[in-house]
Amino acid sequence: MEIQDSKYGQEDATYKAVGEADGLMKLVSEFYRQMSHLEEAKVIRAMHPNDLTESEDKLYCFLSAWMGGPRLYAEKYGTIAIPRAHAHLDIDVNEMQAWLLCMNEALQKLNYPQDFQEYLMTQLKVPAERIRLVCMKSKEN
Ligand code: HEM
Repeated sequence: MEIQDSKYGQEDATYKAVGEADGLMKLVSEFYRQMSHLEEAKVIRAMHPNDLTESEDKLYCFLSAWMGGPRLYAEKYGTIAIPRAHAHLDIDVNEMQAWLLCMNEALQKLNYPQDFQEYLMTQLKVPAERIRLVCMKSKEN
């Protein structure tokens, strides 16, 4: 199935499928739990502050709008360009894959339907790859 034809891609369908505010909060919290436990994620966990409260809130607020739900990040923190927000970090293929792995594990742990897991992972690879490219460029300069 083409991504644009997916039942999850329209309006707030993704936000609804994740379980709205409650579900998204659980997903973000499980994502950071995975990041704190997985051996493969050690390097990216160390890029974050010890206290993940603000990191969790920011990701939750960002993903809310990204999934077609309330535009919480803009309301609370202002505008953001996701690749630029990561440009100061050392993110290459390993770090990108580690981030995606944490999300994949979190989705599995929370038992989301397989097609939703695949849809979300495919979609998240797009900003993840943009981040990697921006980080690569800022390293060159
Ligand atoms: C490619 C792998 C990625 C790595 C290694 C990574 C790592 C990080 C780190 C270390 C921070 C700073 C945390 C802090 O200082 O509190 C951060 C912030 C953030 N990340 Fe990522 N990230 C990645 C991908 C993504 C993706 C794909 C998204 C969204 C779809 C995302 C959304 C955010 C948001 C919203 C913030 C907060 C930015 C701000 O308000 O300044 N990240 N990320």
